[in-house]
Amino acid sequence: MNGDIACIGAGYIGGPTMAVIAKMNPGRRVLVVDINAERIAAWNSDNLPVYEPGLDEVVKACRGKNLFFSTDIAGAIKACDMIFVGVNTPTKTFGEGAGYASDLQYWEASARTIAQEANGDKIVVEKSTLPVRTADAMAEVLHTHPEHTFTVLSNPEFLAEGSAITDLLNPDRVLIGGPQTARGRAAVRALVEVYAAWVPRRRIVTTNVWSSELSKLAANAMLAQRISSVNALSALCEATGADIAEVARVMGMDRRIGDKFLRAGPGFGGSCFKKDVLNLVYLCRSYGLEAEADYWEGVIRMNEEQQRRIVARTVKALFNTLANKRIALFGFAFKANTGDTRETPALAVANLLDAERAQLVVTDPKALGNARRDLAHLPHVALEPDPYAAAADADAILVMTEWPCYRELDWGRVYASMRKPALIFDTRNLLDHEALRRIGFRVLAVGRP
Ligand code: NAD
Ligand code: UGA
Repeated sequence: MNGDIACIGAGYIGGPTMAVIAKMNPGRRVLVVDINAERIAAWNSDNLPVYEPGLDEVVKACRGKNLFFSTDIAGAIKACDMIFVGVNTPTKTFGEGAGYASDLQYWEASARTIAQEANGDKIVVEKSTLPVRTADAMAEVLHTHPEHTFTVLSNPEFLAEGSAITDLLNPDRVLIGGPQTARGRAAVRALVEVYAAWVPRRRIVTTNVWSSELSKLAANAMLAQRISSVNALSALCEATGADIAEVARVMGMDRRIGDKFLRAGPGFGGSCFKKDVLNLVYLCRSYGLEAEADYWEGVIRMNEEQQRRIVARTVKALFNTLANKRIALFGFAFKANTGDTRETPALAVANLLDAERAQLVVTDPKALGNARRDLAHLPHVALEPDPYAAAADADAILVMTEWPCYRELDWGRVYASMRKPALIFDTRNLLDHEALRRIGFRVLAVGRP
């Protein structure tokens, strides 16, 4: 084994993960490959395709030394004994399982390419999030070329966008699932060595392949469920006069519950929570577990309800009509510190507001490029990088993303430029509501009376 590493898929996961592996393993070459030549060109430029705090520095330190980005997939497979696959696994939009199951076409295409191009035995590492028992299917595809031995490991990634580099450098755990055979155990040991370069061994957990695959879906489902639970409680807070921030604080002080991931808001977005919960629903149904499937599907329904409720409250606050009213969305990214807008609650809210015939203007410090693409079906929506210009003449501002820069705005200046009565709906509970009320704003918040 030469110790070099290939990664097929240079996306949000492949790029940052491999950059950190390269940085912490200066003795290994790390080759990141993708079919998307434009993306690879961006990885080789000063303008990386992914915005993550700290990523530029890590890439700059390693690129051209032991970290390489290219479209030479066959070359990378031949050059390395360990091949990560970090391609996208979106929700299927067609055929059997449409709307629920993972679309595994990119993963299978990668497995076929590995089988075809391999020049010796390879360890294939599932980095993408995959349905439990995918490794079985993959082993079958790989074994269409029986002249080499392929050992499939599962090594799901738990980083969150916006904190990818710190999560990678200091993970709660690294999970490696492998076959319980001599060859499987040797492959697991080889992968443990990659991470042990910087992760304490007690945080590297090894399991069987199926536990590893399912643990990733389970962890995302539990996190999504927490958000839907707190959002369901936020509706009850609004109805009763309780305050979700206070309720969350009290719940979080119970060490069995813990204080993380209890922020009520516009619902979860991001590329994975919805897709992974839907995948879990599909898996449950395919094993005949209907009640379990319904339970997890409720997490998604609750998330959509939160966005519907935000728009309904906005309509009510603006005298039951939004027609021709200017509404500014502050933030379009699915969370702060990222330009990613996949499954962003802001898009669902924009669609609902558009159906009310509001005139929308969207501002965001990092996500306007993606917003332009996501809102192409609403050509009259304006995109405005300057939040002050976005707010001018608006009837309402909906704070959709918790960008810290919105806290620093001169809210007196914003208020002066708006139509009166001026409404702020702070769906992230980001701002100082009392200060806003003193300026003259009417303020709505999630989970607060
Ligand atoms: P992405 O769309 O950003 O990147 C996937 C890349 O794979 C794309 O650049 C695409 O061109 C490339 N690709 C597709 N098919 C290919 C092929 N046959 N050969 C070579 N390249 C190919 O996706 P992502 O966000 O990086 O997610 C990848 C996987 O990681 C998913 O399964 C996702 O669930 C999982 N994941 C993502 C995150 C996250 O924060 N984004 C976190 C944990 C896990
Ligand atoms: C999430 C998980 O946190 C990662 O562990 C996982 O690896 C990743 O999905 C994945 O599999 O892709 P990510 O989607 O990047 O990471 O971001 P999160 O910080 O988890 O936020 C997801 C959504 O939940 C965001 O829209 C965020 O605003 C929302 N959220 C989060 C809340 O509404 N309330 C909270 O308390 C926390």
